[in-house]
Amino acid sequence: MRNFIAGDWTDGCENRQLAVTDPSDGSLIANVPDSGAADAKAALDAAQTAFNSWRTMSARDRAGILKNWHDAIVAHREDLGRLISREQGKPLAEGRGEVLYAASYVEWFAEQATRANGEVIPSPFGNKRLLAVREPVGVVAVVTPWNFPAAMIARKIAPALAAGCTVVAKPAEDTPLTALALVKLAQEAGVPAGVINIVTASRERTPTVVDVWLGDERVRKISFTGSTPVGKHLARDSASTLKRLSLELGGNAPFIVFDDANIEAAVEGLMAAKFRNGGQTCVCPNRVYVHDVVHDTFVAKLAERVSALKVGPASDPTSQIGPMINERAVQKIERHVRDAVSQGARIVVGGERIRKPGAPQSAYFAPTVLVGTTHSMACSCEETFGPVVPVTRFHVESEVVAQANATPFGLAAYFYTESPARIWRVAEALECGIVGINEGVFSAEAAPFGGVKESGYGREGSVHGLDDYQHIKYLCQGGIQ
Ligand code: SIN
Repeated sequence: MRNFIAGDWTDGCENRQLAVTDPSDGSLIANVPDSGAADAKAALDAAQTAFNSWRTMSARDRAGILKNWHDAIVAHREDLGRLISREQGKPLAEGRGEVLYAASYVEWFAEQATRANGEVIPSPFGNKRLLAVREPVGVVAVVTPWNFPAAMIARKIAPALAAGCTVVAKPAEDTPLTALALVKLAQEAGVPAGVINIVTASRERTPTVVDVWLGDERVRKISFTGSTPVGKHLARDSASTLKRLSLELGGNAPFIVFDDANIEAAVEGLMAAKFRNGGQTCVCPNRVYVHDVVHDTFVAKLAERVSALKVGPASDPTSQIGPMINERAVQKIERHVRDAVSQGARIVVGGERIRKPGAPQSAYFAPTVLVGTTHSMACSCEETFGPVVPVTRFHVESEVVAQANATPFGLAAYFYTESPARIWRVAEALECGIVGINEGVFSAEAAPFGGVKESGYGREGSVHGLDDYQHIKYLCQGGIQ
């Protein structure tokens, strides 16, 4: 596979290769360019050239092309779903689901493109007329994570194109193939040359690529999903050219079960939220707080469900949890479990890597329930990003809300209660961008996705999703008698 620059498939300038492997067994899927600065610059030159014509295309025409792209993605649902599963490791049903989730953003922003209205402002002057219009900000640099190889590309590129921006993108080093497949479909759907450019690179060489975009004044916006340290680096290094930033960064989501909760529903919600993509989502519950009086019942029901989860390769249609993305990810999960146990937590289910016969290193981790976890443990204050549920007992609402908020992060939170008054109290007190109330699955193209505090800023999806890709220009016409 090759980079996609200016409408052409090109080899990396330095002829280095990056191997993309299947996390279920480490086998090679394909090689892609391990790009460098010259590739990043070529992509940016192409995006800047294309911007001049793409920005002047009518919103309706841009919307039509996005609609074609949406239809092509849906038509290739099966192939794309298999590709996502293969390179990322999520079970096939989830891979197929992600394709439709990605397509929903493309369709949504095709529609939003035609609704980016301006304003006519009541004039304070008899002889002047005042208007505000929306304009695309320019070239957007998109840097995406590996956990949703299709949805994150779609959630960033579709609004950029709808707004009239052009894109340079660097997909995650573990999962670049889905991005390349999507851009092939975009090309067939009529996206002109240079409007989307994809440059692939290894973890080591990603800074070389991204630094070119950070330092160049032609890039007017960066949209990044990934870790908080990298988000801070992007914020610092883009400051010299005052780029706009959308940062969807790390989370540490609390999941609270109150004593008046519907326990069956809470277990169901937790299973859906926690084990989606094997626990590898930014909005996964990372810490579970259960009220003392329902704690034991909840844990018993949860343990029964968790021990029944089937772990295996994404290609096996019966698998519910696939491999973790790579060895580093498994080692982090192992460290969190070890740390919790060393500080007094107890393993109820799972707790270790699953060794597959014949495989020297296995990326499978057993779905795990820990009880007796506390706020000082790594699993409570760092994002585990794996199938581990640490359960902490609590007694008082105000204390659990304070604990939930005692983190630099603020992406998502969940709670279960049957009390209408508590619903409002707790939803308003939680410091985060998204709250699941008696619900474990909330992501949707029509809803605003994003965090507060060190989980970043900007909102993706929803009627707000175009805002970061457009600026407002004020027009004042005088001389009106
Ligand atoms: C993420 O983990 O970054 C995205 C999850 C989602 O869109 O639901």
